[in-house]
Amino acid sequence: MKDREIILNELIGDTTGLSKKERAELIKNKKRELKEAEIRKHTAEREAAEKLKAAQIAEERKSGKRKTLAEITEGRDDYEQDFKVPDDTVVYCENLVKLYKIGDIEVMALQGLDLSVKNGEMVAIIGNSGSGKSTLMNIIGGLDRPTAGRIYVNGINLLKLDDSQMLQYMRETVGFVWQNTARNMIPYLNALDNVKLVMQMAGRLDSNRANELLEIVGLGHRKKSKMHELSGGEQQRVAIAIGLANKPKILLADEPTGAVDTKTTAQIMSVFHRLNSEMGVTVIIVTHDRQLSHMVPRVVTISDGRIGTEFIRREEIDVNSDEMMNATAGHDTGSHIEYGFIDGRRRLFIPEYYLSKVGLHEKCKVGIDVKDGKLELFKPEEDDAL
Ligand SMILES: Nc1ncnc2c1ncn2[C@@H]1O[C@H](COP(=O)(O)OP(=O)(O)O)[C@@H](O)[C@H]1O
Ligand SMILES: [Mg+2]
Repeated sequence: MKDREIILNELIGDTTGLSKKERAELIKNKKRELKEAEIRKHTAEREAAEKLKAAQIAEERKSGKRKTLAEITEGRDDYEQDFKVPDDTVVYCENLVKLYKIGDIEVMALQGLDLSVKNGEMVAIIGNSGSGKSTLMNIIGGLDRPTAGRIYVNGINLLKLDDSQMLQYMRETVGFVWQNTARNMIPYLNALDNVKLVMQMAGRLDSNRANELLEIVGLGHRKKSKMHELSGGEQQRVAIAIGLANKPKILLADEPTGAVDTKTTAQIMSVFHRLNSEMGVTVIIVTHDRQLSHMVPRVVTISDGRIGTEFIRREEIDVNSDEMMNATAGHDTGSHIEYGFIDGRRRLFIPEYYLSKVGLHEKCKVGIDVKDGKLELFKPEEDDAL
């Protein structure tokens, strides 16, 4: 193998007749070319090796030698029951409980939460601070484990995964976007390198895809910008590209618009819409920002670690319309139909708005009747508070 200096001298060839400055310039350019060629070669080699590895894994899967995580966790669950999630359901949570203990103090962050998300859905989970949103996201994302309940994601029973299988799950199945951009990326790398780094860490570098992802989030022209050169909204779009780096089936976003203004919020939300409709990625967003409810087709509310009501959008959302930015909060906008929710223990969540309309309140007896196939709830004659 030839020494770098010798190769360099051969490459620049005869430099007689050039000034010292011109010669130095020539050497500098050649050195840069050499370095770039080396990087290209390394990248190509690594990508080829990774493709080979992926092909081997695919072959092993086909022949049954290597099992998918869903296959590994198939069968009886922690409750010793043969349980099967409906085919089109990509996230299934049943009676999820999360108990945190700090010294003698116990906090029930999730109190029997039920949630189903279908493949290809886009859903926002909206609730106040402390309602359990991040806890839920961390459990779906495999960063934390529930104290009790069932959780299946993409056919995988998360309770049955050991720590190393959980890491594999996190790399293969879910992508994360955090509010705090520092948690998503490395500040001194440029946008493209940040996306590539995540791919490399998962052993699946694909430069073309990294470039494509930045195009998809509308940052094709800022690929070489370092994080501090980008605005908050642009950083958040890089974060989305990073979240998608490993082709996750599900993108989880925890307060993705928490640190940006209204206009940027609408831009970020339209990126989520594009990913959802064009790439078929299931998107789950948790936020305290009620404004977002008008920008997603399905909204569920969360309070005290349980799912409350559901809102389903009446029509398809036009992501380019002004409506996305001008929407106002409240249940009377006509944009969504509001639904109650009966959980796994037949508990019905009724929004405060409806309760107060018929003079009901929390912890009171409620008259109940069926009329024309509809359930009626009303204030009984004597309303004895419990
Ligand atoms: N690691 C933890 N240790 C102890 N308590 C926690 C921890 N994480 C969250 N909690 C508590 O659980 C509840 C729900 O928190 P969190 O899921 O972060 O809510 P949100 O994201 O909706 O603001 C809160 O009361 C919070 O203080
Ligand atoms: Mg939170």
